[in-house]
Amino acid sequence: MEIEFVVADAPLPEKAVLAIVVFEGEAAKAEGGAYAAAIAASRFTGAKGQTLDLLAPAGGPGRVLLVGAGKAEAFDEMAAENAAAGAYGAVKATGFTALRVKLPAASAELSARAGLGVRLAAYRFDKYRTKEPAEKKPSLTAAQITAETPEAALAAFAPLAALADAVSFSRDLVSEPPNVLYPVEFARRVKELERLGLEVEILGEPEMFKLGMGSLLGVGQGSIRESQLAVIRWNGAKDKDAQPIAFVGKGVCFDTGGISIKPADGMEYMKTDMGGAAAVAGLMHVLAARKAKVNAVGILGIVENMPDGNAQRPGDVVTSMSGQTIEIINTDAEGRLVLADAIWYCQERFKPKFMVDLATLTGAIIIALGDDIGGLFSNNDELSDNLLASAKTENEPLWRMPMPAQYDKNIDSVIADVKNTGGRAGGSITAAMFIQRFVNGVPWAHLDIAGAAWKKPSTVPTIPDGATGFGVRLLNRMVAEHYEE
Ligand code: BES
Ligand code: MN
Ligand code: ZN
Repeated sequence: MEIEFVVADAPLPEKAVLAIVVFEGEAAKAEGGAYAAAIAASRFTGAKGQTLDLLAPAGGPGRVLLVGAGKAEAFDEMAAENAAAGAYGAVKATGFTALRVKLPAASAELSARAGLGVRLAAYRFDKYRTKEPAEKKPSLTAAQITAETPEAALAAFAPLAALADAVSFSRDLVSEPPNVLYPVEFARRVKELERLGLEVEILGEPEMFKLGMGSLLGVGQGSIRESQLAVIRWNGAKDKDAQPIAFVGKGVCFDTGGISIKPADGMEYMKTDMGGAAAVAGLMHVLAARKAKVNAVGILGIVENMPDGNAQRPGDVVTSMSGQTIEIINTDAEGRLVLADAIWYCQERFKPKFMVDLATLTGAIIIALGDDIGGLFSNNDELSDNLLASAKTENEPLWRMPMPAQYDKNIDSVIADVKNTGGRAGGSITAAMFIQRFVNGVPWAHLDIAGAAWKKPSTVPTIPDGATGFGVRLLNRMVAEHYEE
């Protein structure tokens, strides 16, 4: 999708829909009242989320779309983003090839955010559709956004275009089927990010075995696909040796549950169990693409959890890189086993300022918070507050969950240092407390994004049905606002 910024009275391109964004209560006055009669014949008020599609209006261009932006005094960057995304969604498959979004207030920041809205809304994963009729495919290929100063809007759009690219990269990884995106292929796609200036190391099973990563390796033991650890580095700070910030992702390319096998219903969704790792890869993508002034590390633990003659059993005891032994109670609680070694490796090797892990970790977080909100668990208030604020601004909501010390005994094992499940009650909390046993005093936060990584149906105009890329936006903002030079 091509995005261009133009002045409001620039001539309209061929086959373009003119989308006029109007404030609530002011719709009838828009464009000198040109569409007042149509508005009067409808229930369109200009409220957020409303659109009114006008075909061949007298004296106007071939197609006009009125887009409600809500109250004028509340028109902020998110409102501009959502209005533009909503406009795209309303006319994407009308046969028209271009979209002009005419904003009622068009500072560089507002116009740029409208551009981001269109880019995110236009995401589509259609490489495996071979028979879709042309008239069902989106026809829009270019969008123009009005701006008071198009050059300034284009400059403000540059980091947001990088963000849209990164979110799309993350969504693609999650959308790919698990026979295509197995661990080595995931690692290969991450390695390709070196073209952006990132340094990427890939560790295979022999290297991880040498490091003592018995916890991560146990999960991949039943798969014929080799487990991988990806180490992604971006050194954008002036001092290339300055202490980095770190992000760790759960990358289970497919989670059958292993020997503790999952029921068949909905199991296909477990291809998204690498959503945490995809978000971390997306974050590193945007940091490099917009040359963020920060040193950052991304660690992805990438495995496939399969039942097999060689698979790990309930009852097995594995030794993690930290030296702690883990009794496997349920092979379906595998994400925390992957994170235990990835997190330990991260803090031992990089001594980061803080670590944030992202994981589609528990079904229980969906029961607690639903599909739209991620669970935040942390040992540090400042880090939590920064995450919560960025989550709110980017509309990738998080809710902080408690980590009561008395629940920690639920993961004590009779024969090993710790066991990998703590029972049904508070399942997301004991999962977080398991990870915490592998955090060595570093400020740390864990985001359980089991519900948020995939939406169907989606309720947000910038997120088409399917992979969301949840986490990329909020982490990018947090880094930009708090941790860059
Ligand atoms: N990948 C799942 C969690 C999940 C569930 C993600 C639904 C997305 C949607 C995770 O590995 C898992 O299986 N967790 C178990 C833990 C249990 C065995 C303690 C769960 O949540 O049921
Ligand atoms: Mn599982
Ligand atoms: Zn899983």
